[in-house]
Amino acid sequence: MVSKMDYQKVLEDIRKEVEPLLDKGLVADYIPELAKVDITKFGIHLLFLDDSSFSVGDTEEKFSIQSISKVFMLAHCVSHIGKKVYDRINVEPSGDPFNSLVQLEYENGIPRNPFINSGALVVTDLLISHLQDPRQQFLDFIRELVGQNDIYYDKQIARSEKACGYKNAAMVNLMKSYGNIENDVEEVLDLYFDFCSVSMTCSELAKAFRVFANHGKGVIDEKKYISESQFKRITAIMQTCGFYDEAGEFAFRVGLPGKSGVGGGIAAILPSQYSIVVWSPGLNKKGNSLAGLKALELFTTITGTSIF
Ligand code: DON
Repeated sequence: MVSKMDYQKVLEDIRKEVEPLLDKGLVADYIPELAKVDITKFGIHLLFLDDSSFSVGDTEEKFSIQSISKVFMLAHCVSHIGKKVYDRINVEPSGDPFNSLVQLEYENGIPRNPFINSGALVVTDLLISHLQDPRQQFLDFIRELVGQNDIYYDKQIARSEKACGYKNAAMVNLMKSYGNIENDVEEVLDLYFDFCSVSMTCSELAKAFRVFANHGKGVIDEKKYISESQFKRITAIMQTCGFYDEAGEFAFRVGLPGKSGVGGGIAAILPSQYSIVVWSPGLNKKGNSLAGLKALELFTTITGTSIF
């Protein structure tokens, strides 16, 4: 363990080391709005449970959290309906890309896990069935976790994704044919695209994600958002499924439970210690932030703070 005073320098050294990687990845262009983001952006924010924090780079700029939202969606869902969620979604790594359709057919419309698109679409369907105003309640949930009201859906991103969201539409239709979607296909898709479009800065996301580092309890408000057993399960799914067909690689190189998004963000936690968020829009072939992954690998290696 390095002393806390050294963390700022550790982050600065990491930024220097990953700088040559920033333009080596590719921005996600299947969502046209995301392709407009400046690939040279880089931010990393580290937040401890004792409220000390360390920041380097573009950590106060909002970006599209995309699939990182799936962790909040699952937490919100289990906090309302409990473990029934897992009757309709499995908890095994898929070993396939996040938008793959292949397993869905031979597994009768049951998604492998809640952190691939098909799984998050079923979570969205469950939220529609069980909440009165899921669009507003989900935003309120995230705002409460961050402790700020200025968190919004980015309607431009959501519209842009909807215009080209053919694979997600195919997934919902396929799952509906197996009886694993209760609501209207368009309604599920629209809400899912909104959920993915939430826009946050690295520091805001680190605040929201810290609830998982703190075993489901808010650090400031001390509210129990999810139970200890729900925390254990969600964290386990982050570890095994948070990076799609690169979940093994992330465990191998970084060794923290976490979740990535095609906006180039990665959020991770060391339980009982800290949350850390990195943002770098250039993605590797598996859809995870290229420089972000390297930055987190360096961080846990230098500080000796992985879960292993
Ligand atoms: O549904 C999609 O394809 C996007 N809204 C989210 C995908 C994503 O972020 C996968 N992450 N690596």
